Parts: sequence; structure tokens; C-alpha cells
Amino acid sequence: MLDYVTDKVQDESRQGEAFAPFAGDLNHYKKRFYIESYGCQMNFADSEIVASILHNEGFGATRNIGEADLIFINTCSIREKAEQTIRKRLTEFRKLKVQKKDMLVGVLGCMAERLKSKFLEEEKLVDIVVGPDAYRSLPGLVAEAEGGQKAVNVLLSREETYADISPVRIDSNGVSAFVSIMRGCNNMCSFCVVPFTRGRERSRDPDSIIKECRDLFEQGYKEVTLLGQNVDSYYYQPAVDSPQSAVSGPITFSKLLERVALISPILRVRFSTSHPKDITDDVLHTMAKYENICKYIHLPVQSGSTRILQLMNRTYTREWYMAKVDRIRQIMPDCGISSDIITGFCTEEEQDHNDTLDIMEYSRYDFSYMFFYSERPGTLAQKRYKDDIPEEVKKKRLVEIVDAQNRLSLASNKKDIGKSFKVLIEGDSKRSEKNWTGRTSQNKVIVFPKENYELKKGDYVTVRVKDCTQATLLGEIA
Ligand code: 5AD
Ligand code: SF4
Repeated sequence: MLDYVTDKVQDESRQGEAFAPFAGDLNHYKKRFYIESYGCQMNFADSEIVASILHNEGFGATRNIGEADLIFINTCSIREKAEQTIRKRLTEFRKLKVQKKDMLVGVLGCMAERLKSKFLEEEKLVDIVVGPDAYRSLPGLVAEAEGGQKAVNVLLSREETYADISPVRIDSNGVSAFVSIMRGCNNMCSFCVVPFTRGRERSRDPDSIIKECRDLFEQGYKEVTLLGQNVDSYYYQPAVDSPQSAVSGPITFSKLLERVALISPILRVRFSTSHPKDITDDVLHTMAKYENICKYIHLPVQSGSTRILQLMNRTYTREWYMAKVDRIRQIMPDCGISSDIITGFCTEEEQDHNDTLDIMEYSRYDFSYMFFYSERPGTLAQKRYKDDIPEEVKKKRLVEIVDAQNRLSLASNKKDIGKSFKVLIEGDSKRSEKNWTGRTSQNKVIVFPKENYELKKGDYVTVRVKDCTQATLLGEIA
């Protein structure tokens, strides 16, 4: 249990997922590639961009690693454990490469960016190293590697948003899709390696975002999740000479959200992730105004102690965060709230830990991702503070935090018993084809019998909650 929670990554179920093949005969592609992705949703979205770039150059995707000419691994550096998982996977690729000499192995994403050409020295059988802003150069790098050179591009960019690239969505459930709206992060949370691996923040052209969302809707998708490291600081200033500039001025996140919501009332809109300091009343009012903007906010607190928050450089205090939670509940009483929590940060004392437990209680999180602190090379915390909390203490505190969250999740689900929710059907439930699984606006998973209704995935249906577990609501069609 502990191992699980200690490296609980966002969307656990997808870690290491491989890309599905394109339809049709693989033989007509010049090369076959295989991609496996780790880490955050942004990485999964990036793999879809990489697949699109490779596909346009005549490469075909395969899910069978044995038939691949190119193996890519899209990597995560957020915690040490994530990097260990990836290194283990690379040793497995190495064995394959010994058997198949002309196969190439490429490392993409945050670990590529963090380690740069050091990767090639450390992992002798890696041929290609590409950072998150350099995916357009992949076809050229593959050619270089085929010519026997070690191919590296880890240049970060201030502009790259891949705005014009249509991600390939072979692996999705056909109902919900992720749309990247910005890249990078300008916050300098002292524990976080992301600003170093993903570079400066930049926002994608809103017209390309709207077009992508509209195309998805026309293809039958019913839900888009707008993705960025810190979506609330989305800001796009149209070029001075563009006709758009005169009409609309700069586009903030709330304006963007509204434009996406207006595509269709039956297209649900979600977003992730928010930084508490940046989520504005404008955003909250826009959420409240449109029924199809889901009433759910992922609002990572990281710690409940003002002293620790300061060391983390989160730029808010405990009270400020609590006031933000109040504000959300005031504007949207039915809004779901979830969080990320780091336990055992440098100098954390029992009192700080209790403050975290207390703020969890106050915020009544429906759900949290909980981690113990993992020191990352190059971060401000690594340079300034000592990682001084013993492993056993971190683990003990993490267990307490997980227990508290389990209680809160159960209490929140129990409160829903007897209520009815509009649910977007995502597909068969994992356990039985006789049941549907879907989500409420508040992002809670709900499972219910299909009965004899003529429904299909992508449909909306009203479901009454009859029972629950800590993780799932159980209902029946109302
Ligand atoms: N150690 C532990 N957790 C971390 N996170 C980010 N950096 C670290 C780290 N060094 C967590 C934060 C963030 C989430 C994506 O990962 O909680 O919100
Ligand atoms: Fe990391 Fe903080 Fe940026 Fe999130 S907001 S990616 S935690 S630096």
C-alpha cells in the first residue's frame, strides 16, 4: 500500500501505457514506432503530438514493441521514483536492442531535458534524446541516429506550443480528450523540477485551441480537458496587426474557457491544473455561468503550514488558501475540489503536519494526490535547504494524510447518496459489461447498471446515487 501512495502519479492507470497502432496495414509505413508514456497528463498529450509528427513523416505506430524499429519513452522527472521506474524500463529496452541491432531507442520529455547528453553517457544504448520543446526535430534526429550519430535536441523554446499540430488520438475512449493550452511554468515552487525541464510559460493561440476543441466535438467527443502546468495564468495577446486584436484584446483564461464552453452546451469542459494564487473570480463566475463547464477544481495546496508554504515558495498563506476555498464554495456550492499534498518537506515539524491535516479537513477534498517529498537536483529547495526529514517520519505522516483523505473521500461520497447527477457515459465499467461507468460534473466516477435503456458511451444520463465506496459512487438510472 505504501509503495503505491509514495509514488502515486496523476492518472495512475495510464502509467507506461503504449500507443495503439494506426488503422490499416503497417507494412506501408517506412518505419514502425512504439511510444510508452509516464508522468502527467501533459506527457500523454505530448505523446499524441509526437505520434502526429512521426506519422506525417511516414512512420507507423505499433503497440507491439517486438515489431518496432523505433522505441520511444516519454519520461517524467517529478520524483526520484518516477526516474527509477524509467531507468528500469530502459534496461529492458536494452535487452531488445542487443537482439535487434538496428533498432533505435529515444528518450523524450522531462528526463531527457534534465539529463541532456549525460543520458547518452549513462545509458549507452540510448540513441536519441529529445526535450519537450524539440519534438518537431524528431524526424531529423531519427535520420541522424540511423547514420550512426548520437542525436540530441534539448533546446527549450519561448514560443513552441505545437499549435498547428493535430494530435493523433488513437488511444482515447472517443468521449474525452485532452487539449494542451499552454506549456512550461514560470512559478518557482522550490521543490519542483518542472520549470527546468519544461521551460518558460507560454500560451497557445486561442483560435487553434478552439479549432481543436470544435474538431473534437464534430468527431463525437463530449468532453475536453484544457491542460497546462498552470492554466489560470493563460494569457494570449493577439498580434497588434491581427483583426482579432482590435475586437477582443488579450485573452485570459476565463475568456478562453467561455469560448470553449460556447462551442456546444453538450460539450463538457474541464481544466487542469490551477495554482491557487492565479485562479480568479472571473474564472469562478464563468464556471458558474455555464452548465457545461464542470464544477470541479484541482487546487493543489501542497502544505497546510504557512511556514512550509513560504519555504516552498507557493506565494500564499494557509489563511489565503482557505479564503480561496470559501470563495469557490460561495460562488459554486456544489463544486468538487481536489488537491496535491507533499509531506515531509524540508524542516517540516509535527505542527506543520497537523496544519496540513487540518487544512484537508477544512477544504473537505473529494480527492487528493499525496506524495512524500523527493529532493530534485537543481531545484531551489535542493540548493537552499536540507532534505532533513527521515524516511520513516515521511512515511508515517504520509500514512496519516492518506487515512485522512480516505475518510474525507468517503464522507464526500456518502453525502451524494440519494442525490441525482447528470453523468457522461465513458464506457463499460471495468468489472462488468452489464454496468456503465461515467463521471459527474464534480469529476466523481459513478458506476450503474445499463438495464434495458438504449444508451451508448458519450450519452448523458441522469443517475441517482444509491450507495458508494470511498472511490466510486454506485447508482441507478433515474
Ligand atoms: N517531491 C514530491 N512531490 C512533488 N511534486 C512536485 N515536485 C515534487 C517533489 N519534488 C508534486 C506536487 C505537484 C505534483 C504534480 O507533484 O504536489 O503538485
Ligand atoms: Fe511545479 Fe509549482 Fe509550476 Fe506546478 S506550479 S509545475 S508545482 S513550479
